[in-house]
Amino acid sequence: MTSTDLTKPIRRSDFADGFLWGVSTSAYQIEGAADVDGRVPSIWDTFSATPGKVRDGSTGAAACDHYHRWEEDLDLAREMGLNSYRFSIAWTRIFNGVDERPNAAGLAFYSRLVDGMLARGLQPWCTLYHWDLPQYLQDRGGWENRATIDAYLRYVDVMTRHLGGRVKHWITHNEPWCTAMHGNWDGMHAPGNKSLPLALRVCHNVLVSHGLAVPLIRANVPDAKVGIALSLHPIKAASDSAADREAVVRHDVLRNRWFLDPLFGRGYPELALRLVGDDAPAAMEGDMDAIAARCDFLGVNYYFPEVVVDAPEQYPLRTAIVHPQDRERTGFGWEVSPQGLVDLLARVAREYPAGDLYVTENGSSYDDHPDADGAVNDTARRDYLIRHLAATRDAIAAGAPVKGYFAWSLLDNFEWAEGYLRRFGLTYVDYPTQRRTVKQSGRWYGAFVRGD
Ligand code: FCB
Repeated sequence: MTSTDLTKPIRRSDFADGFLWGVSTSAYQIEGAADVDGRVPSIWDTFSATPGKVRDGSTGAAACDHYHRWEEDLDLAREMGLNSYRFSIAWTRIFNGVDERPNAAGLAFYSRLVDGMLARGLQPWCTLYHWDLPQYLQDRGGWENRATIDAYLRYVDVMTRHLGGRVKHWITHNEPWCTAMHGNWDGMHAPGNKSLPLALRVCHNVLVSHGLAVPLIRANVPDAKVGIALSLHPIKAASDSAADREAVVRHDVLRNRWFLDPLFGRGYPELALRLVGDDAPAAMEGDMDAIAARCDFLGVNYYFPEVVVDAPEQYPLRTAIVHPQDRERTGFGWEVSPQGLVDLLARVAREYPAGDLYVTENGSSYDDHPDADGAVNDTARRDYLIRHLAATRDAIAAGAPVKGYFAWSLLDNFEWAEGYLRRFGLTYVDYPTQRRTVKQSGRWYGAFVRGD
């Protein structure tokens, strides 16, 4: 653990001049306009329309209607004084599964969006895959089918040629753990399968697709910076017992090292392979080398630490996640631990030759309500943000080369299996009217970034 003084006030000048200040978003969570301009269904359209899958029975069909309101939304980011903006492309706006050629209306939308960012001084950070696989590909086996890797590379090729003159920062995948495990092991996310070996095969193919995309993006984009965004968690023992401390090591090998190790050329961790046994994915020749393609940066998405106990009956890790009562939590029940971010960034920098690090997501959900005068005073979210920026500062001081911070998220949005019940935005969205109100947290972030 790195010792740190998170109570020391943060100042804009604690961060380097070129530090990136941004917000993160994703297509399915904000765009809406689900059947506009030739977009076809993704696995999230199908999943969210299936009764019982999303807690409030909602879908992303309307979401924040960002597809039509993107100018207003980019204005919000500009008014905050941000210098970067992370977004994702909806693959289903580009390829419809019938035409070989990309959909001109989809290409034009992302062209407008990127031009809009550049006109507002926002450096575009493009995520190519944020979970919204075309349903027509899922119908043929989805990420379990290696043909999906080829389809992904074709889509990546088209998008990087189309935007590569203007977009230099590319993220191949957002949180492959969630794509694979929530999508195919616990079934909480689309497509909703429940099989560990399937999840591990999906995971492998997603990582291969990442690795093959890296040189492709570099070939298409002059001066490209390419990386991946991982959801990483510090793992903590619930007690000091030797059994719980060993549980931490086992939990970590699948949660974190299953991704970090192969990306940095070390292959899947031995311990993890032993634990999953025959459920391990079969790698084809060249796969592990492909996955280890050198990246320019690593994106770290951090929300909370996981606390685990030894649980001998649980296959495959023999661990269980627990939720100690004595922790500060967000409205979503996620533990608030800025120290976890210091530890995580310091660990990645210490154990892996990761190069530049970016906090590509970090944020909190609370049950916000406008006051009588319409203001949204989300003091808890503002304090969460302040403390996690202090954590980022302290991680940098401890030697982690963090070059930017993207708050999740610009707007309240469709929070996957939680629907619209969880608000993560720095901006409040009144869904019936689509009116946006910058919250206290967003006003604070803007004032901090602008140095007011
Ligand atoms: C992350 C996702 C992002 C958002 C946040 C709260 O796991 O990448 O889309 O849902 O959680």
